[in-house]
Amino acid sequence: MSQSKRSETDKFLDESFIYDGIVIALIISVVNNIYDLSILGLANEFILILIVWYGIVEHFIRSSKTMNIDTRYRLFFYATFLIGSVLNTFIYKAYGITFIPIIIVPMIITLLIDYEFGASAGLILSLSTAFHYRDFFMFLQLFPQVFISTYLLKNVRSRMQVTKAGLISGIVSLGMILLQEPVRHFYFSSRDYLILFLNPLVSSIIVLGILPYIEVSTRIYSNIGLAEISTPNHPLLKLLIVHAPGTYYHSMRVAELAEHAAENIQANSVLARACAYYHDVGKIRNPEYFIENLKTPDDNPHNELSPDISRSILINHIKDGIEIAKKYRLPIQVEMAIPQHHGTRVQKYFYTKALEIDPNTKIEDFKYPGPRPKTKEMGILMLADVVEASSKSLKQPTIDSLKRVIQNTVIELFEEGELDETGLSVDELKIIMDSFAKVFETLSNQRIEYPTVAEKNEDYKLINK
Ligand SMILES: [Fe+2]
Ligand SMILES: [Fe+2]
Repeated sequence: MSQSKRSETDKFLDESFIYDGIVIALIISVVNNIYDLSILGLANEFILILIVWYGIVEHFIRSSKTMNIDTRYRLFFYATFLIGSVLNTFIYKAYGITFIPIIIVPMIITLLIDYEFGASAGLILSLSTAFHYRDFFMFLQLFPQVFISTYLLKNVRSRMQVTKAGLISGIVSLGMILLQEPVRHFYFSSRDYLILFLNPLVSSIIVLGILPYIEVSTRIYSNIGLAEISTPNHPLLKLLIVHAPGTYYHSMRVAELAEHAAENIQANSVLARACAYYHDVGKIRNPEYFIENLKTPDDNPHNELSPDISRSILINHIKDGIEIAKKYRLPIQVEMAIPQHHGTRVQKYFYTKALEIDPNTKIEDFKYPGPRPKTKEMGILMLADVVEASSKSLKQPTIDSLKRVIQNTVIELFEEGELDETGLSVDELKIIMDSFAKVFETLSNQRIEYPTVAEKNEDYKLINK
């Protein structure tokens, strides 16, 4: 995308923020008033939601990298938010306050986007519902559930954490009602207490049940979904190991490096791992043109090709990767990692070769299309990719020579400006370097101890008992 086109899109997105809040506030206040329309009530709720939106939510949207990586994230946030508003209103009207599934939407938004957005959506939903029925106690009953359930889902890694958040939220819900008991003007029955306790737990189970369907249909994935696709059993990785085994093993090692580095700087290590698994998936189409898949250096088909053709083949693994990611409905973030892992780097080897033939060769023609990495996880992926590939060129790798490779890579990418948009600080780069070195150290220490003949015989006896 050209610079001018990019800035036009940015401008449009920036301007549309102004209207997003107005549209959302209008829809939610209309939905709240659908059964008992009051113009004054509607206007009051509209203003209340506007204040919360422009005071809190808009700030989060502007500063969130996740929300701004793709318009689909924003549309998903708004759509889920509005569905939550309709759901709460209808359920409240039909079954009463005890049945309002207030945490479903905030939980889904937290799992798929971020905690801040989940909590903000929950704040607006509980505030506008309580305001509509002029019942402040209702807010004190609904919002603590939202706050606890979304807070407990920050950096979620397993399904168990989701149901645990639901259970704790149920205890909080019950506790809030019991605390209000002395000052409330009406009382709940023991059946109501049971429903108030079970509601968040059942809501969390519903969230787990519908999550995979949302992920596959929107391609917006939670950490749970990302972990599920980061397994060698995925059909695409099975194809990769058969058609491009060298690329497969390269990707596994990049994943190892990226995951540990991300963990050490408190970035999303699950995302870094998933992106590493699939970053070179485009190489499935022409595996024999990529060095890691060659049996011997003499097999290199590029020796027979012009640098121009070699350049196109290499650049095409980005285009092919994006196509394959779309076809297999990989997460949007994984698809975006494919062009970002090479950023706008120059294919130096083929550029130098082309210069020897034609000194007027333009450097731009030998650059990957970009964009440059836009998040810390994408920056780590680029670094891990280059470090892993460079480590292979060492004839007799030692820890010291590997450390030199790591250092040179970081300096090179930093000076090229490829890491400029990642938000990685110098301190974080140092942590990443140490982390890469530790992974190499661990890998080099892993020697498979083969069993002795005597041990083998013992095992055989045990199996055949
Ligand atoms: Fe690549
Ligand atoms: Fe790679």
